[in-house]
Order: sequence, then C-alpha cells, then structure tokens
Amino acid sequence: MRETRQSGSEGGAGLIPVPTPIRFAIGQGGETMTRMSIFRTRRSIKPAAMDAHREVARDLLLAILGDAHAAPTHGLTQPWRFHVFAGEARIRLAGALQEIYDRTTPVSARNEEKRAKLGTTPRLAPVVIAVAARVEPNGKIPEIEEIAATACAVENLMLSAHQKGLGSYWSTPPATMSAEFATWLGLDDAHRMLGLVYLGYSQTGKTPGPISRNPLTAHVVFHEG
Ligand SMILES: Cc1cc2nc3c(=O)[nH]c(=O)nc-3n(C[C@H](O)[C@H](O)[C@H](O)COP(=O)(O)O)c2cc1C
Repeated sequence: MRETRQSGSEGGAGLIPVPTPIRFAIGQGGETMTRMSIFRTRRSIKPAAMDAHREVARDLLLAILGDAHAAPTHGLTQPWRFHVFAGEARIRLAGALQEIYDRTTPVSARNEEKRAKLGTTPRLAPVVIAVAARVEPNGKIPEIEEIAATACAVENLMLSAHQKGLGSYWSTPPATMSAEFATWLGLDDAHRMLGLVYLGYSQTGKTPGPISRNPLTAHVVFHEG
C-alpha cells in the first residue's frame, strides 16, 4: 500500500510518495521482514548461542561494516574504528583481554569467573569486532559527540547484521573499554574504547521475541501549543 505525506522544507509542490517498505529475506528459515521492522525485531544473541564454526563471508562482513560507516557524524569526522577478529586472531584477543584484566584489576576486586569469560567468550563467535572512537584532542567536535556517532555506527552495524540474518551482541566488560586495550590494538591516546561486538549466525536460526520495555510514554515528553 502506498501512502503520501506532505513534503516539508523541500519547497516542493506538496505531496511526495512514501516508499513502499522493501521486503528482505532473513534468517535460515526464509522468513521475511520489512525495512520498517528491523528496529523492532533485532535482539541481542549471546555468543554462546552463535555457531562458532559457521564463518561470516568477507563480502557480507564488508557490507555490514559499510552500513555502520554510513552513520551520522558531526563535521564528517567519522570517528568509528573497527578492529575485526576472526579465526585464530580471536584466541590472541582472548589472551590479551585476560592479560589486561590481570594487569588492571586490583587483587581485592578479582573475579575468576569474569576473568575466565574474557578468555572463552571471544572463541564462541566467528567474528568479534573491537570498537573504538577517535576523539580529537581540543578538536572542534566534543568527545561526547564522537562517542555518540560511534554508537550510531554500532547500531547501524547490529541492525544491518540482523537484516542479513546474523546475530549480534554488544559487550562492555571493563577490560574491553580500557586504555590498555586501545594500546594493545595499536591505537594512540586519542581513542576511546567502546567494547566488543560479537557477530555470528545463531545456532537455532531463530531470533528471540521482543522483550517487555517501559511504556513509551515514560520516555517521551511532547511540548506543544
Ligand atoms: C552500550 C551497550 C553496552 C552493552 N554491554 C553489555 C554487557 O557488557 N553485557 C551484557 O550482557 N549486555 C550488554 N549489552 C546488551 C544489553 O544487555 C541488551 O541490549 C539489552 O539487554 C536489551 O536486549 P536486546 O539487545 O536483545 O534488545 C550492552 C548494550 C549496549 C547498548
């Protein structure tokens, strides 16, 4: 069904067509969804629920990263940096995160379960992406905006992955957010870490249903009249 809406500031002669939602094939079951619904049907898929042995084709990965790269960015600084780990590189990543945990966690705060997870979780997903934001010291764009733009890129990435039938999971344990991790990645001190995004096909081929959220009205205030 096609609808029309009033054009805004384009200065046009009135009504412009609203595009008919495009249907995409997703998932292993051949379900379809509209462009409109990817926002509502995306869910986090934990790495333990991903198929570690099903690789993500490089072309598909580049398409997903390309969608992330289309995120809005003040001053077109494009602050997001993605370090992609696949295959054996995930083992090196896991080892580095445990080593950073050991170096940065006071003895009194050590938790063996958390340490063990840093060593195992990166092996559970076929692709792990470390996300950083580059902030310009004394730059025109404030740090918070560069981090916000990078978060927009991550959301694009997760929605694109979902649209293409892949699961994603954003994870932010302290070691993955640390300056030490940035250094290990070869990034200088103009970078802020935003954790890891795990990507992979879900073992069941299914995405969990929606979770209950607060009523929208608790988060929105209209100022009118
Ligand atoms: C910035 C950010 C950081 C997150 N870090 C973690 C994390 O460290 N551990 C975790 O279990 N989930 C983490 N999540 C995922 C949330 O738990 C998840 O998005 C939330 O439970 C809602 O579920 P949904 O993504 O399936 O809608 C993070 C999400 C965001 C946006």
